[in-house]
Amino acid sequence: MKAIEEITEILDLLYKHDWDERNGGNLSYILKEEEVKEICDINNEIREFKYDFDLSYLVGKYFLITGTGKYFKNCLKDPENNLGIMKVKDAHTLSLLWGYNDGGRPTSEAPTHLKCHIERLKVDSEHRLVIHSHPTNVICMTHVHDLDSNHWTEDLWKMQTESIVVFPEGIAVLPWILCGGEQIGIETAAKMQEYRAVVWAQHGLFATGRTPDEVYGLIETIEKAAQIYMMTLGYKHYQSITNENLIELAKAFNLNYRHGIID
Ligand code: 13P
Ligand code: ZN
Repeated sequence: MKAIEEITEILDLLYKHDWDERNGGNLSYILKEEEVKEICDINNEIREFKYDFDLSYLVGKYFLITGTGKYFKNCLKDPENNLGIMKVKDAHTLSLLWGYNDGGRPTSEAPTHLKCHIERLKVDSEHRLVIHSHPTNVICMTHVHDLDSNHWTEDLWKMQTESIVVFPEGIAVLPWILCGGEQIGIETAAKMQEYRAVVWAQHGLFATGRTPDEVYGLIETIEKAAQIYMMTLGYKHYQSITNENLIELAKAFNLNYRHGIID
């Protein structure tokens, strides 16, 4: 049950940060077969969920996915009602092996999650986790900042020294698009070919990576930078991190940072 413990702990922390109110946010995590075997019988299919897009890239993989309408607040104390473990059985079917005990089903954002997993796996074979959250200051910034990905990247990099170290590839931003739909999934996944983090204007953030610590740390760092942006907005700025400072940092930390923004 180690995988369930580590994921429910992260869900609880996200809730306690006020980044996932009510049923806001969702998570999907690629589990190894030995991890699933620790939790349930991998041959006992409970129910199926059908998707009309192509999942063939993921066939045979196991996913832990939060249920639609479920609250992050409740996952730690009741994982079996709020989470499900599924195997991608064929190009259009997820087979439920554990969880959703009260008759639930995967998050409404599952198509976007699964499309993001496909694109991230193509660029990083060790990729495992996608978290969608509603971080307060990231959403605030989408009200008061333009939605250009390079402008966001530059401004967030300049808010604090740590930003460029944690997300050297930058951050992508999408305009408001209907959530839970096909278009938002296609556009988010397209950005995931180059970025691990995508902002949805007036909605939240999709963040991806190899481990719970990496993805949680990415969300925290982006939200912290956005918080500094919002807390200093409207004040006279006496100094900031310069392009030269960022280039110096990139050299010192050997960062493969996105070019064309500060140089
Ligand atoms: P679900 O309850 O379907 O996971 O939706 C929550 C959400 O944040 C939608 O973007
Ligand atoms: Zn959401």
